[in-house]
Amino acid sequence: MDLTLLKMKHEALYARCPTHYFASPGRVNLIGEHTDYSRGYVLPMAIEQGTYASVSLNALGILRIYSANYPHIPMQTVRYDDELYTPEDGYVNYLKGMVLMLSRQGHVFSQGLDVIVQGDLPTSAGLSSSASFELLMGQVLLDMHDAAYEKLDVVKAAKAVENDFLGLQSGIMDQYAIMFAKHGHALLLDTGRLEHTAIPFDYEDTVLVMMNTNKQRNLTKTDYNERVRAVHAALDIFKPLTGAEGLCDVARDVFEAYVLENPTLLDWDPARHVVFEHARTYEAATALKRRDMTRFGALMNASHDSLRDLFKVSCAELDFLVSAHRDLGALGARMTGAGFGGTMIALYRRADLPRDFTALSEVYDKQFDLKLDCYYAAPSDGVRQLKEGK
Ligand code: GLA
Repeated sequence: MDLTLLKMKHEALYARCPTHYFASPGRVNLIGEHTDYSRGYVLPMAIEQGTYASVSLNALGILRIYSANYPHIPMQTVRYDDELYTPEDGYVNYLKGMVLMLSRQGHVFSQGLDVIVQGDLPTSAGLSSSASFELLMGQVLLDMHDAAYEKLDVVKAAKAVENDFLGLQSGIMDQYAIMFAKHGHALLLDTGRLEHTAIPFDYEDTVLVMMNTNKQRNLTKTDYNERVRAVHAALDIFKPLTGAEGLCDVARDVFEAYVLENPTLLDWDPARHVVFEHARTYEAATALKRRDMTRFGALMNASHDSLRDLFKVSCAELDFLVSAHRDLGALGARMTGAGFGGTMIALYRRADLPRDFTALSEVYDKQFDLKLDCYYAAPSDGVRQLKEGK
């Protein structure tokens, strides 16, 4: 991201030079999908694509914000006591949510701020553009007020924005990954204990390709919350039997034994995905530590197949691309994020990486009448304040 351009836009809009710059990455999840609201393992990493902010002070006691990604929306103002979700406010609701949730943690905001945000992260693509923006604004608010804070509390505030302000019953993976990410590493996050281990991700010998299906995902919130309910219905059965607090606390053999006895009590497919994906993610982390990328790729494949067949959050576009990459020689390929569209990832040995994906894009366009966007993922740092020029 060119900060010089951001600086020029800032000066033009607010007639003042920005004094501070911030960056917040997107994230890609390598494996461990739909386990983070069941106390399971996930294995995400932050990517270089993200969201940026330039900031200067104003004497108005309010926050003014403009997004260079939505040039048709004029600059908007946010009062620090405005606690209402307003559909017309669009992306600004994430900021209002952060103000509210951080205030509930005891922070007091009063400093007038002028902000421009700009990102190079596709939105609604399964790469966490919303969590990237939430964490970006959290960092801006806290740093510009010289506030002391625990990183995990900011993560929890951002999750509360999704859960309680916007009504999406999502887990903690996206916000946690964006806060704690480390350059060159993926994070094995235990969403039950809220602890993580950073594992080196070798992006010299292997290449992670990300492909955005560009499929519209209007029903995501409804579909997502419906999956959460299905998983919690299974937990309601196991909780009294085993004391499990999340479905990933249930061991695979305990799960299978019970299901064998009670095959028709529930549609067990979603729960089976969660219980096995949790174990698969731990195994994948072990393979990554050993640099066994063949095994890692095989587990990515198994994860996708389970999301497609058991959890049923894939779609024709994702399945098409996943099988195309497997045919092209990828070590593994799968959807990433919530699903129903969005982005898929393919892991290649650098030596096996196809020269380009033009032919694939053409076939995809012909079959689905959609453009295919291709990116490469490099594990990057989490949200941070930038020094100018960096
Ligand atoms: C979305 C949610 C996450 C997680 C994934 C699926 O990205 O925000 O909390 O549940 O879907 O793994």
